[in-house]
Amino acid sequence: MSDFITAFAPASIGNVGVGFDMLGLALSGAGDRVLARRTDGDRVIVIEVRGLDGEIHPYLSTNADENTASIAAQALWNVHGDGGGVELKVHKGIPLQSGMGSSAASAVAATVAANALLASPLEIDALLPFALEGEKYASGGMHTDNVAPSLFGGLVLCPEVLLPEFIRLPTPAGVSTVLLHPELQVNTAEARRALPKSLPLKLWLEQQGLLAGFVHACNSDDIGLIGKTLHDVVVEPHRKGNVACFDDVVAAARKAGALGCTLSGSGPSIFALCKDGDARNVASAMEQACRAQGISCQSWVSSMNARGAFVEDPA
Ligand code: HSE
Repeated sequence: MSDFITAFAPASIGNVGVGFDMLGLALSGAGDRVLARRTDGDRVIVIEVRGLDGEIHPYLSTNADENTASIAAQALWNVHGDGGGVELKVHKGIPLQSGMGSSAASAVAATVAANALLASPLEIDALLPFALEGEKYASGGMHTDNVAPSLFGGLVLCPEVLLPEFIRLPTPAGVSTVLLHPELQVNTAEARRALPKSLPLKLWLEQQGLLAGFVHACNSDDIGLIGKTLHDVVVEPHRKGNVACFDDVVAAARKAGALGCTLSGSGPSIFALCKDGDARNVASAMEQACRAQGISCQSWVSSMNARGAFVEDPA
């Protein structure tokens, strides 16, 4: 039997449209795996990174100072390591620069795997600051909206001002998530640099109202209010131009019954929330609209209450 411990961390939707940098939603069906075992060394190293095809990843580095997985695990080890080192194998299940929280999932899976190696593992809530160190390296900021849902699952409100505290929000009954990944790439750091540095007060008020209404809708299972509040009036207008199929995909999702539809994180992925019974139709309408623009794509249908990261049972 292998002495590696394997942790899985799901993909996630940053911003969830209304909560720029502070609201995140886990997605089932896609995620990264990190295998970890103890070594006689004195630090965390990466011995392999494999891509979606199972082959050695052509771009991601095994340099421990340049990989979100090792940076996060090392941050945990620096504080709680009980001697020796750790070696990691990173198996990517999430495309890079997809707006699906790829770098965050590797950081989360590595933190959870390294934690499981400790004689006295920490509670999962205590792992957030360590996983965030990896994400900080990848995106250059302290936004938690991918790391938190990937770690905890479901819908998480995690504004920087409250860190290390965060709020697990209830997910509304009867609502599913559909995520479409068009085969394009958007670099999050660049997409952030393209945003305006200040906002008109009117726009800020509008987005605050939408976020407050959306959170209340989730707390009260108010599906109509989700439809009314799932809009991004601040960030989407500056980013949708990076995704050629965006307008057509959103129109198709709405026509098929989606409650709302916007960018996932910085894109190019696009997500919709819809009634459970509409999810398959919404996914297929979004795919068709994307392919009609000559862009290949893949979609996932998920519960809004998707499971967060976990240690897999040994085979
Ligand atoms: N919330 C960040 C952004 C990261 O939109 O730039 C998203 O994953």
